[in-house]
Amino acid sequence: MRLGVLASHGGTNLQAIIDACNDGSLDAEVVVVISNNATSMAIKRANKEKIPTCHISSVEYPTSSLIDMATREALKVHGVDLVVLAGFMKMLGPLTLAEYPGKVLNSHPALLPKFGGRGMYGTRVHEAVLNAGESITGVSIHLVDNEYDHGEVKYSCEVPVYTDDTVDTLEERVKERERSFWIEVLSKIASHENFQ
Ligand code: GRF
Repeated sequence: MRLGVLASHGGTNLQAIIDACNDGSLDAEVVVVISNNATSMAIKRANKEKIPTCHISSVEYPTSSLIDMATREALKVHGVDLVVLAGFMKMLGPLTLAEYPGKVLNSHPALLPKFGGRGMYGTRVHEAVLNAGESITGVSIHLVDNEYDHGEVKYSCEVPVYTDDTVDTLEERVKERERSFWIEVLSKIASHENFQ
């Protein structure tokens, strides 16, 4: 299974996926990493692993349709089977989505449809979970469409919220689970679908 991973910042989920591919626990390969952020850790992590990278931003591609075309091209050129959005902060365009129907997944660090949508990212998600007094949060992996955090949730797992949690402790617990959950989900997909 040839994975194209899109990431904007730290890339700890990307790293977990790369590590799982390298140690054989995931039967897949990250064949390209795409980022809107040339100086992101995600790009640095890919470079370290000698994985091809592609920087696609509005600097080089001034319209959303040019970004869409460049993204689709980069994925196609590298023969990507499944597209993984792992901390990618931009919306994908219609050409890219049409090229990979049912094959673009995003993870969200809460149980969608709660605590998702435009502007709900990073610490804001965990802050909202704590403010709502939830005792359980989790990770959702959903199909990507043309709205933020909106496509069908295909996989989810729960993470406990403790009464003494801060945004930081909760975020750390959810992110740790998110990394292992990606590997579980991708392994399941790799074993059920024929990507040859
Ligand atoms: C993850 O929690 C993801 O769900 C959210 O952004 C975070 C990215 O983390 N969309 P990292 O860049 O993989 O470390």
